[in-house]
Formats: sequence, C-alpha cells, structure tokens
Amino acid sequence: MQETRHRVLDALANGPVSGPTLAEQLDISRSAIWKHVEALRDEGFEIESGDDGYVLDSVPEFGEAAVEYGLDAPFSVEYHDSIPSTNARARDLAAEGASDVVVLADEQTGGRGRLDREWSSPSGGIWLSALFRPDVPMAHAPVFTLAAAVAVTRAAREAGVDAGIKWPNDVLVRRGDEERKLVGILTEMEGEADRVSWVVVGIGINANVDPEDLPGDARPTSLQAERGDPVDRRAFTQRVLEEFDALRRDPDGVLDAWREYATTLGRRVRVETPSRTVEGEAVDVQFPGALVVETGTGTEVVSAGDCEHLRPLSE
Ligand code: BTN
Repeated sequence: MQETRHRVLDALANGPVSGPTLAEQLDISRSAIWKHVEALRDEGFEIESGDDGYVLDSVPEFGEAAVEYGLDAPFSVEYHDSIPSTNARARDLAAEGASDVVVLADEQTGGRGRLDREWSSPSGGIWLSALFRPDVPMAHAPVFTLAAAVAVTRAAREAGVDAGIKWPNDVLVRRGDEERKLVGILTEMEGEADRVSWVVVGIGINANVDPEDLPGDARPTSLQAERGDPVDRRAFTQRVLEEFDALRRDPDGVLDAWREYATTLGRRVRVETPSRTVEGEAVDVQFPGALVVETGTGTEVVSAGDCEHLRPLSE
C-alpha cells in the first residue's frame, strides 16, 4: 500500500479527524485526502464521515490493505484472490530486484510442495511467500525455514491450536496416535556460496479450509477443524509475519525456539536422505538446521531428508 494511504489510515485509527485537519497533518490537498479515503473504502475499510470528521469503523477481513494495516513488521504485502503459486510470484519479484515483500493468496491453483509434490491450496487458506535478502552465506539459509516453522507454531498456539514441529519444518497437530499436518514450508533461494542473493520462504497454512478438500496430503488438518470455528486470517497472518521478522533478525536464537516446539527430539525416527536412510533416536538439532541422530552404531548428522516418527521400540 502507498505510504500516504498508510498515514491516512493511521490518522483515522486515532479517532474522528476532519478532512482539513488531515490535509494539514499530511501536507496534501483536501481533494487528495478525499481520494485516499475513497480508495480505502474501495478496499473494504468502512469509514464513516460524521460531524467530527472521518471515523474508521472496520478493517477488511483479509487482503493486502487489511494485513498491512497495523502490521508490526517491515513487509509490504501483495495480495491475490487466486494465483498459481505465491512462491513462483515471489521468485519473479526477486528477479525484478524486490525485497521484504510478502505475496499472499486466498487460493493457489498450482501450489508447490517439497520434493516436487503438489500442494492443495483451496480458498480459505493462508498461502504466503516472504521474499527477503539476508546478509548470510548460502549454507546458513536453512535456519530461515526453521524460523518460519517456529513463527507459525507460536501463532497457532496463540489461536488455541496445540501445534508442534516435526523436523525440519512440518507443523503438525497430534490427534491420539496420529499426527496431522497443519502447515508446510517450502524455501527457495539463489546466490553465491558466500552470500545469499534472495530467499523465498513459502508457508502454506491450512487455515479456514476443510481437511477433506486437501487431497494431496496424507493426513491433513486445519486451524478451523482443530478450533471448531474459523480463525481471523488477518490477525493470524500478521502474527506469523511479526514472529518471523523477529526470528530472521536473530538466526542464532532460532534453534532454541525450535527445540521448544519440536516433537521430533527424543523420538525414534527414520530419515530418508537422497543418499542413505538413517534410523535412530533424534537427540538434537544443529545450526543451521541439521538433525542429530543416535543410531546403534554412533552419531549421524542429517541436513536434509524426509523424516518419519517411529513407534518406540518397547511398544
Ligand atoms: C511441503 O511440501 O510441505 C511444503 C508446502 C509449501 C506450500 C506453500 S503455500 C505458499 C507457497 N507457495 C507455494 O506454491 N508453495 C508454498
């Protein structure tokens, strides 16, 4: 959203304010103020004009202006009702030189998952990709994927859903013996070995969707299904972006936060890597995100792969 429109909204949020006062505060003409107010109304903001001036009555439920309004993180938002893939769009923006942009969609028609899988993304979800340019070597970039998992887990817990993280970055909810997937994360990046050029962290949150409409996933769940009622997608998206922003600035602090929510540590796991299968007890995670597994014959450190939680041997 435009800078001036942000400032108009901020002024409206602080109570009734007349057109002339606003014009003076922002140092623009009264007709420019009127145009901004009309544009905000078009975007779904309810703005009353009473005797004391303009009053902001309500904010739209979801979308670019809704998420940017009151967001305490330095991201601009590009919203789409429907788009093939927010990650693909964020990559295009990266090629154009953009940074600190979040591409957000209500629906994706070609959502992409890890290992070239499809990611079902019906209307009602929170499908987003954050594009940024951290000053780190390529080898450190996996820590941002862990940071995203922590950010969503925190937001889910605040929304009353007891989520946890399966290494490296699946956010799951436990139901009896089963674990159901709530969120998937796909990170893409480009750069030279010693420096990342850009990172796109794609986060797929099954928010207000019916798990039965998610055929691609073996055992999916959603925030709505877990809570029994829909989640406020605007507030949820803002919490994710704010937490993620704080974590990306403190990569060294990410692992401690991740350990707090990890469901993998202390469990028996089987990790399929491109070159081998590692089975044993997951005992820790190492910067920038590798899993430490005690096998019968020693310690293995696995940096990428598909992880399965196994039943304890004693069961
Ligand atoms: C996984 O396979 O678990 C990762 C799924 C990642 C899906 C998200 S939805 C937003 C972003 N856009 C995409 O096309 N993929 C990611």
